Amino acid sequence: MEYDIARKKECAMLSKKVADLLNNQVNKELYSAYLYLDFENYYHDKSLEGFANWYHVQVQEEIAHAQLMMQYLQDNDYSVVLEAINKPNIPLNELSDPLKAGLKHEQYVTELIHTCYAAAYEEKDFRTMQFLDWFVKEQGEEEKNASDLISRFELFGHDAKGLYDLDAEYKTRTYIAPSIL
Ligand code: FEO
Repeated sequence: MEYDIARKKECAMLSKKVADLLNNQVNKELYSAYLYLDFENYYHDKSLEGFANWYHVQVQEEIAHAQLMMQYLQDNDYSVVLEAINKPNIPLNELSDPLKAGLKHEQYVTELIHTCYAAAYEEKDFRTMQFLDWFVKEQGEEEKNASDLISRFELFGHDAKGLYDLDAEYKTRTYIAPSIL
């Protein structure tokens, strides 16, 4: 605790409420990476390397989201404090369980981003609102991707050939670093 207090410094450029919410969001993005790492491991165990790859890319995206948040806080003279990351504990029994849990999680993250945005709006913090615009749009894409994974699994994933083809397709997903500007 003393360590945290010593590290925190007054942040003149952002309100404490906005800065603390963004700092909390760093932890949530890192938890997202941890959760998707768990999904990646699950699909490795099932020998579905394409699905595992899809989440491997997702892990990298979530780490990038955390890094973008940290960079913004640092650029605004805020000392980021990293908290412990929760253990992923979603039961994974069926092949579609990670996909369904992924959509639910992204909907939760959207709510968190909207909470950050609402706080910035209340404070007339236009700089942070502009920064968060990218995340608002990104969450729309994240939810759509997660929803598409479920629809496609429901359509094609229940027979061996369809599942094989989906897995082959997801093997081709590659990570592209976000460009926020
Ligand atoms: Fe960082 Fe999947 O949202």
